[in-house]
Amino acid sequence: MGFRTAPMSQGLSVAAPTAVERDALFTPEIRAQIDAWCAKYPAEWRQSATIPALHILQDANGGWLAQQQLDDLALYLGMPPIAVYEVASFYSMFDLAPVGRHKVCVCNSVSCLLGGSEGLIHHLEHKYGVGPGETTPDGKFTFKEVECLGACKDAPAVLIGRTYHEKVSPEALDKLIDGLE
Ligand code: FES
Repeated sequence: MGFRTAPMSQGLSVAAPTAVERDALFTPEIRAQIDAWCAKYPAEWRQSATIPALHILQDANGGWLAQQQLDDLALYLGMPPIAVYEVASFYSMFDLAPVGRHKVCVCNSVSCLLGGSEGLIHHLEHKYGVGPGETTPDGKFTFKEVECLGACKDAPAVLIGRTYHEKVSPEALDKLIDGLE
């Protein structure tokens, strides 16, 4: 995430699809989940559900987002595709290429760097042979370097899946990785 400028195209909208067109885009289960988020906002602001919808689609696709999903979501929410691409490519929690079964996200922002995240990064590179953005050959996990996870007080912080781990040493990281299926 970090300090980059927020996407600029989120306020744009395009004609919404017909109900028939919309129903063809996603399974009923996924539509129900996305619609539950859309219902939290005024009808003309369906695009406000973009981020939770991307999470829903990513979870349904093995942890990453395919371009077809982004295009379908744009149509579903009545947005230009570029506006969905901007959001999906801006946030580090979204992946636009296949990933491993798990994501090991090591914070590389200043508090964590001072607290030892560089050692974690080197450890992952040397012990598991993966650089940032790479997946282990067995597909067990994808290593991601990310910016501040909001756990600076207990640096270095690591996010695995949706679970935070703090004050992580290389040895503790090994145990966490050993525990992944
Ligand atoms: S700097 Fe790592 S959690 Fe904030």
